Amino acid sequence: MQNVVDFIRGNYDRYLAELREFCAIPSVSTRSEHKPDIQRAAQWVADQMKAIGLEGVQIHPTAGHPIVYGEWLRAPGQPTLLFYGHYDVQPAEPLELWQSPPWELTLRNGDLYARGVVDDKGQVFMHFKALEAFMKNTGKLPVNVKFMIEGEEEVGSENVYKFVGERKRELACDALLVSDTTMLGKGIPSVCYGLRGLCYFEIELTGPTTDLHSGSFGGAVPNPINILCEMMAQLHDKNGRVAIPGFYKDVRPLTKQERKQLKALPFSEKRFQETTGAPQLVGEKGCSTVERIWARPTLDINGIFGGYTGEGAKTVIGSKATAKFSTRLVADQDPATITRLVKKHIEKLTPKSVRLKFTVHSEGDAWIAPFDHPLVQAGKSALEKGFGKKAVFIREGGSIPLVAMMYKELKKPCVLLGFGLPDENAHAPNERLNLENFQKGIVSLAYYYDEVSRLR
Ligand code: BES
Ligand code: MN
Ligand code: MN
Repeated sequence: MQNVVDFIRGNYDRYLAELREFCAIPSVSTRSEHKPDIQRAAQWVADQMKAIGLEGVQIHPTAGHPIVYGEWLRAPGQPTLLFYGHYDVQPAEPLELWQSPPWELTLRNGDLYARGVVDDKGQVFMHFKALEAFMKNTGKLPVNVKFMIEGEEEVGSENVYKFVGERKRELACDALLVSDTTMLGKGIPSVCYGLRGLCYFEIELTGPTTDLHSGSFGGAVPNPINILCEMMAQLHDKNGRVAIPGFYKDVRPLTKQERKQLKALPFSEKRFQETTGAPQLVGEKGCSTVERIWARPTLDINGIFGGYTGEGAKTVIGSKATAKFSTRLVADQDPATITRLVKKHIEKLTPKSVRLKFTVHSEGDAWIAPFDHPLVQAGKSALEKGFGKKAVFIREGGSIPLVAMMYKELKKPCVLLGFGLPDENAHAPNERLNLENFQKGIVSLAYYYDEVSRLR
């Protein structure tokens, strides 16, 4: 094992040069003009898999973006880990807020900057390098692995659901392994045991069939923007709770024991607030910040538009108004039920003076699992070896829809070893990954593959 670790420590510069190539590909999944870049990123992943010695490497086309698969199954009697990650990234806009170009990996003050460097290209790449170190030094891997890297995670993973559904036997494994989450804070390596689910909606209200002069018509015709604002303002009550009837009905309350566990974590509310830059934290009355982001469901408006938004003033009543909004879900809320409740409530709030179009963009379950399984516990001890620090078990407020699905389908443990930090600007300008976490992370992952091989 020492050779493997020494090898990793001697190759950091080369790793950065390779990661630079990966991050240079603008594989933005949500924009059709990036389709060729998505292809290039999938090809890069496939080439990387071949280069480190994975076998059966294939780029599977789907109705959307391709899924790259590779495996190495020559460790008889050893567990099989199915690694899942994504090569797609969020758009880089607004570009003017980046301090260095988003598609040029840049090292600045101990952090690596680039779109996708933490979410999730850098973290996928760390696994490649951990495996490569075993191959180069021992000619083999300590365990069996299957790698599945998709290109639609940032847009809801629709086609990977199908892919998995059709290949349950080929994808059989002892655990799902993912690195797409964050650590609780710098120097606190973390294993994640819970994610929130997500339902994403869009509503469009239409009043008059065309924009109207607000002097000639204002006061006598429905203004869809006024109405939309009124509707959106009714989605929360004074206590910061979601005011949709039935919304909380299936929420699994925290046990006394977990509440205590969460309270004992070295989470700094002050640090958290500073990260956001907001003058104050808010949320559901009676819950701590950690509870609010990890263990309670929420509703947020993600975008709202209509009417005149250009320079200067224009006296107009817009014909249409649109809102995009989403709910984060926790166990045991059912996304289909929540969608039904939200739709019903929105219909009830919509006055007869406007027409409503209601769209569901995506639905995904929350995930929570016990962390006493040996394959999960091995994650904790691997992180402790790699970082030389005590590791903790945390939940996350974000969503990785496939994790919940796989847990339900395969009934196998999901091991989430994340190396991001909460203030690294995933999805925002100046996304970064701490260099030390990148380096220690690769070593930790090598320890993880090794620990798993020693379990029996
Ligand atoms: N890596 C994130 C999930 C995540 C976010 C984990 C924050 C831990 C903390 C993932 O790439 C992501 O952004 N997921 C989306 C899911 C959606 C597009 C279906 C999310 O959470 O908004
Ligand atoms: Mn991600
Ligand atoms: Mn993401």
